Amino acid sequence: MEEKEKNQLSRRNFLAIATGAIGAVIGVVMAVPAVAYVIGPALQRRTDENWVRLGSTSKVELGNPTLFKTIVENQTGWIVTEEEVSVYVVTEDGREYIALSNICTHLGCRVRWISDQGQYFCPCHNAAFDELGLVVTGPPPRPLDRYETKVEDDQLYILLGG
Ligand code: FES
Repeated sequence: MEEKEKNQLSRRNFLAIATGAIGAVIGVVMAVPAVAYVIGPALQRRTDENWVRLGSTSKVELGNPTLFKTIVENQTGWIVTEEEVSVYVVTEDGREYIALSNICTHLGCRVRWISDQGQYFCPCHNAAFDELGLVVTGPPPRPLDRYETKVEDDQLYILLGG
């Protein structure tokens, strides 16, 4: 009789342990993808996707800065925001391209190319930049920001956040 009770107890223990182990395995199998789903976007690294296509190089007039506008999606964790990026593209020979931000480096107003004067003008505090974005007059502490550029299949790209 005592032997039979011992066997029953060990059977009960075995079933309890087996049930717990199966529950733990199911928990892990469900938790790993859930955790990866939740924290995955925060851990993603952006690499080549920061190259943003502006458009055809044929739109750029030789010696005359050409304004390109594009919408860029930014993802920080789960939050996705859209940002308009405006860039002046300059070329003298149709092979080398310079891309300049149209954001004034003083307090962030948008500059505008005035072709008659051959300068970018910032209306906020009357600053002027030359064709290559160097400060001509006014309070901006540095030239207009430049983006790295590349051309693929006649399409012009800039590198954001690079
Ligand atoms: S913001 Fe452009 S000069 Fe002040």
